[in-house]
Amino acid sequence: MKVDWARWLPAALLLSIPATCAARARDYDAHDYYAVHLAPSVRPEDVSEHLGLQYEGPLGNLEDHHVFRASDRQQDYDHVKTAREDLRRRRRKREIGWAEPHILDNVLLSQKQDLAKRFPLVKRGIIPPRQDPPVDSNVQKGLDIAKTLGIADPIFQDQWHLYNHVQLGHDINVTGVWQQGITGKNSTVCIVDDGLDMDSDDLRANYFAAGSYDFNDNVPDPKPRLSDDHHGTRCAGEISAVRNDVCGVGVAYDGKVSGARILSKLISDADEAVAMNYAYQENQIYSCSWGPPDDGQAMEQPGILIKRAMVNGIQKGRGGRGSIYVFAIGNGAANDDNCNFDGYTNSIYSVSVGGIDRKGLHPYYSEKCSAQLVVTYSSGSGDAIHTTDVGANKCYTNHGGTSAAGPLVAGIYALMLEANPSLTWRDIQWLTVLTAVKLDQPSDWAMNKALGREFSHQFGYGKADAWALVEMAKNWTNVKPQAWFYSPWLHVKHPVPQGDQGLASSFAVTPAMLAVANVARLEHVTVTMNVAHTRRGDLSVELRSPTGMVSHLATPRRNDGAGSGYVDWTFMSVAHWAESGVGTWTVVVKDTNVNEHEGSFTDWRLRLWGESIDGEAQELLPMPTEHDDDDHDDDADVPGIGTTSVAVPTETGSPAGNPTDHPNRPVNSKISTATTSSPPANTATTPPAAIDDDKDEVDTPSPSASSTPSPTSPPTNFLPRPFPTFGVTKTTQAWIYGSLALIAVFLLALAAWYIRCVRRQRAWRREEYGFEMVNNHGHGDGRDDDDDDGNSDGGGPDNAGAKGSRAAGKKGQRAGQLYDAFAPDSDEEEPFHVGSDSEDSEGGGGEGASVSG
Ligand SMILES: *[C@@H]1O[C@H](CO)[C@@H](O)[C@H](O)[C@H]1NC(C)=O
Ligand SMILES: *[C@@H]1O[C@H](CO)[C@@H](O)[C@H](O)[C@H]1NC(C)=O
Ligand SMILES: *[C@@H]1O[C@H](CO)[C@@H](O)[C@H](O)[C@H]1NC(C)=O
Repeated sequence: MKVDWARWLPAALLLSIPATCAARARDYDAHDYYAVHLAPSVRPEDVSEHLGLQYEGPLGNLEDHHVFRASDRQQDYDHVKTAREDLRRRRRKREIGWAEPHILDNVLLSQKQDLAKRFPLVKRGIIPPRQDPPVDSNVQKGLDIAKTLGIADPIFQDQWHLYNHVQLGHDINVTGVWQQGITGKNSTVCIVDDGLDMDSDDLRANYFAAGSYDFNDNVPDPKPRLSDDHHGTRCAGEISAVRNDVCGVGVAYDGKVSGARILSKLISDADEAVAMNYAYQENQIYSCSWGPPDDGQAMEQPGILIKRAMVNGIQKGRGGRGSIYVFAIGNGAANDDNCNFDGYTNSIYSVSVGGIDRKGLHPYYSEKCSAQLVVTYSSGSGDAIHTTDVGANKCYTNHGGTSAAGPLVAGIYALMLEANPSLTWRDIQWLTVLTAVKLDQPSDWAMNKALGREFSHQFGYGKADAWALVEMAKNWTNVKPQAWFYSPWLHVKHPVPQGDQGLASSFAVTPAMLAVANVARLEHVTVTMNVAHTRRGDLSVELRSPTGMVSHLATPRRNDGAGSGYVDWTFMSVAHWAESGVGTWTVVVKDTNVNEHEGSFTDWRLRLWGESIDGEAQELLPMPTEHDDDDHDDDADVPGIGTTSVAVPTETGSPAGNPTDHPNRPVNSKISTATTSSPPANTATTPPAAIDDDKDEVDTPSPSASSTPSPTSPPTNFLPRPFPTFGVTKTTQAWIYGSLALIAVFLLALAAWYIRCVRRQRAWRREEYGFEMVNNHGHGDGRDDDDDDGNSDGGGPDNAGAKGSRAAGKKGQRAGQLYDAFAPDSDEEEPFHVGSDSEDSEGGGGEGASVSG
């Protein structure tokens, strides 16, 4: 428990002043609202006046963000945008000089709050079937525990998630923590939901009014007002139901609970951003049991203001130790949904919690994904979570879905913060990873060798154990500040083969890169990517780390017919926690359905997030902007380089993805197989035109790989008639001509490479991170200058045609980063499918009835 109060206290005091400002009432039916980010030097009132708008006040706790209001509503008119466009026009006409300062130059971001464009936020509760659980003699033990703790709450015996007297051990293991006197004192959880019945006899004593607000009806208390506003109250009861004679108890029954009511009406991004930072010195944990629809079709992420609020929260909330955001993972598993298609659950700033039922089984609804950290108990196997309901003395027996799982973890975190208030948002995630208990269930468990702990996409690192979490929290030494490494955009621009094959692209991370980036060891890994495809649900993506650990970033979704593909979408994985990050990272994109829908892998970027080497030197991450991913074509303005500028750098000149480059890296046999034998595999499944290009370009720059194409060139039909035969067999002729051709291509490539190298030397200056090593490998991307124009729009769905694929094939092959991977036979792949099968059969057995019922 090392709290550096000298450092934290002044900051905490300062920050808590604006934290308590409530949002002003907004009337979206009568007015248009704008969220604007202004330069700090300008008075917001001056800007709003210039625009003919009213100044509403600051936007929550986001620094230099403000809200302006228009006197009326105009559907298709944007005051700020129009004024800024007008200014640009006048400058173009030289009515105003470009250098002449203008008040509107202080507008850094403006967003009209358009509720019609907002995706709905959906609560993550579901109604499970009800069966009376059998009872046995362990009931007495539960009664004894309750007695020693002074718990007389009438439904405590039904709260099996706290003490399970039927399936022993299937609870959150919290009673021993309570017996130490750790019950959530001085901790506060904010329920961001549809309201919180602060008048309930089971919640009133723990209700924290100063941390609460109703963002839907713009009044201080988030009282449930609609007939279906039950959800937030039930979640609150799981965390903070008072130890008394009403219903049961919460996990942190002496902790405070507040409410932010946002789910009872559509909410603007601006208001949601305010809610996510509301009273963020006092509210420590935000429990969020909602998200975009779990229909297996939605692919939505929080808007820029909400993203900024979350970064603001982890940087400034709780005196700088960071707000803790806990999210329910989503209930869409039966729809093939995957929490990596939800930008809240796959944010590195949120802890995503999935569900298991009272038998420790995977319930049919709980989604799997590589961003899932942990699971805990919820509905299934005939029972659900028993908690408080809306009303003075009303209990609920049927709280379920991942909605009910998230709050239990939020409650455990409240206990941890009582035991050690100095834990940062990342300490909480470390402790969660290190203490999770593996479930004795078949799944795609894979060993994370760096941690010595197994990860499953279905269960994360396992189930949360309150005892273990609190014990480890007590003596935990804070991890050093967060550091990060971004790869350049890696341009692939190659059609994705259909069926079992995948298209792979690799990037090698060197120790020097991480040293420059100050990254000591990994926590989260994100991959931002663009894949054009006419049926998005056919795609899958996996990420293979240098240790051979595989993250299934995206899985096929049968309901997802969107024609947009992935557009700058960021996937996240926690499966690589504690790895060093050094070595080759490979992304494999598959088009799993052989049908008329095709696509092309455009580009991707790897981001490694983790603990810094030198904590003192580490700076805070800048606020996210809307343009963080706009540098795809970073070299586009460099003459002659165009859109294909960034090649995949590899180590020591051999093709990327070749495991022999990396002595430290445990050999992943599937990758090596795929790399070395890909040309023949290509021939069978992708258009020959693309393949020949591929081969030439893969092999020519790297003499070490030049033997690869030979076996793919059957000698018999090799020679056109007019060429001399040298009086030798066809096979020998083929070898001679093949060698001559190879030499010719090699020389050409060498020349092109040289030209490109010279150009690149100019281009590299502009890269942010230490790409000295990249210079060693500029060899790979030398040959494309001629087709830059033809391809400047590459990557669209039409790129998948034969013409497109030829161009893409050329471009994609720099440095040999592409190959077709044979995934179906892959060892890593197998358990994943086994896992999903077992889930299905489970669904067909115990849970199936309830899905259809
Ligand atoms: C639960 O907590 C107790 C301490 O109360 C501990 O001894 C035990 O190992 C924990 N785990 C399980 C599975 O009971
Ligand atoms: C809770 O906070 C108060 C005031 O900050 C402090 O006096 C008290 O000791 C704290 N209690 C616990 C159990 O940490
Ligand atoms: C916690 O740390 C203190 C001092 O470093 C040590 O004396 C104590 O035994 C530790 N407790 C646990 C549970 O490891």
